[in-house]
Amino acid sequence: MTEHSTVTLETATPVISPDTQTVTEVEHYTDSLFRFRVTRPASMRFRSGEFVMLGLMGDAHPETGKQKPLLRAYSIASPAWDDTLQFYSIKVDNGPLTSKLQHIKVGDQVILKPKSVGTLVHDALTPANRIWFFSTGTGIAPFASLLREPETYERFDEVVLTHSCRDLADLKFGQELIKEARNDILIGVAAQHKLRYYPTTTREISPKMGRITTLLEDGSLFSDLGIAGFNATSDRAMVCGSMGLNSDMKRILENFGLREGANSDPGDYVIEKAFVG
Ligand code: A2P
Repeated sequence: MTEHSTVTLETATPVISPDTQTVTEVEHYTDSLFRFRVTRPASMRFRSGEFVMLGLMGDAHPETGKQKPLLRAYSIASPAWDDTLQFYSIKVDNGPLTSKLQHIKVGDQVILKPKSVGTLVHDALTPANRIWFFSTGTGIAPFASLLREPETYERFDEVVLTHSCRDLADLKFGQELIKEARNDILIGVAAQHKLRYYPTTTREISPKMGRITTLLEDGSLFSDLGIAGFNATSDRAMVCGSMGLNSDMKRILENFGLREGANSDPGDYVIEKAFVG
């Protein structure tokens, strides 16, 4: 942190809760997407793929002047071994939280409740050869954690990330993630051998267009990757995206014979919605 940003932190951003963390990095991708990193509480433990509650103090109540925290569920987009916590967010101009959160700068503080939960975790899946991470939009966030988690490569021979977005610019976070994974000091070699990436756009023209559900059902996903198809013996899946994606994928995966899993009852696939900040 620079001296200048330390001064900004101390003078402009008072400590607002025992759960505050300091912003260490911010990168904007488009008018509607950005990522940021914050410090990690020293005692915080989580499993790669989980989410936490994160936010800012809301506006003062017009009569009482009291402020309440404005928190939303955010998937942690960095692995459990990382020193800092990364998040990937949409920006909504009239969104109660993201209209403000999109303006955070290095040195600012956010509120982070360190208790993490979630179903997109290895504990919720039984062993198999191949794992599929199906994501749309900011639903890629938990996979940014799992793709850099050594357990992913210890448990599976092949790891396929699909990411579908409307436009090409929306894919940039995922493209950088794949590069980082392949150069990672811990899992780089495993990722070079095992990790496959399948980006698609649904609106802007690109080399691969279409909703992942369509590409799955018409078989092009498999023919593009040279994979025979899904089956409950060899394939496991995690899904994170819009409600529509989640319900369509549930139907599709169950038609292939996969059974939904949970922390308490590991199965063949798990689903979590991409949270709207
Ligand atoms: P589409 O452009 O055809 O709606 P959004 O920006 O609305 O969150 O969507 C992110 C991506 O998820 C878009 O590419 C969108 O495609 C895709 N998508 C939305 N609903 C579904 C669904 N039910 N099945 C597959 N893809 C979906």
